[in-house]
Amino acid sequence: MTQTIRWSRFPDADAVAGEAVQRILHAAQVAIDRRGVFRMVLAGGSTPQKAYRLLSGCDADWSRWHLYLGDERCLPVGDAERNSTMIASAWLDKGQIPPEQVHWIPAESDPGAAAQAYAAVVRDVLPFDLVLLGMGEDGHTASLFPGQQHDPGQLVVAVDNAPKPPARRISLNFAALNETRMLLVLVTGAGKCTAITDWRAGKALPVARLSCPAGIDVLLDNDAWCNQEEPPDAG
Ligand code: 6PG
Repeated sequence: MTQTIRWSRFPDADAVAGEAVQRILHAAQVAIDRRGVFRMVLAGGSTPQKAYRLLSGCDADWSRWHLYLGDERCLPVGDAERNSTMIASAWLDKGQIPPEQVHWIPAESDPGAAAQAYAAVVRDVLPFDLVLLGMGEDGHTASLFPGQQHDPGQLVVAVDNAPKPPARRISLNFAALNETRMLLVLVTGAGKCTAITDWRAGKALPVARLSCPAGIDVLLDNDAWCNQEEPPDAG
């Protein structure tokens, strides 16, 4: 089955963030109306920070939100390079979401044990309502990097040789990332051009292993889109 990917292009990173927030809030309302809870996986890295900052200024039924992470760097709690630190600083320190509903990856502990522990957390809540991801310049997503094989049956994996520092990370595997009702990928900046071109050309990148029955929505700015032909459903 070919995977539907909807490419939506926006003038800049701010517009990408604004659109992402609208889609997240809509997905949350639908999930809460239908099932009384919204379970979302958060992306790490720098791209989603703008969206997280915007969400910190929004109004929503936060008491129904449960947040998970797509990956975490194996660093001490509070380390400036941890994704949890970035997410807390950009959004969650605002205090809208009950702390017990933010399911951090325990990446400060033994990686193998952390991956097992988080797999148990994830297994109990699949499918997610929304998985938010970024993409690296090499086409990685979460902490799933080119040339690195993981047991496809594992929901969460320990990574010890990531080419993007730090080398040791905990990541949701495709078996978990793809168990979602909605999959949203944010890509901005000229540095992502080549990976976007390769992804569209069908190259076997990690990001190309994402799948979702409802289709994948990729929100890009002009810089990341670079000189591609106009996407069929330009945003
Ligand atoms: C991480 C992220 C990683 C990120 C991409 C894009 O921990 O680094 O999870 O997968 O999403 O590397 O990073 P930028 O958004 O900073 O370009």
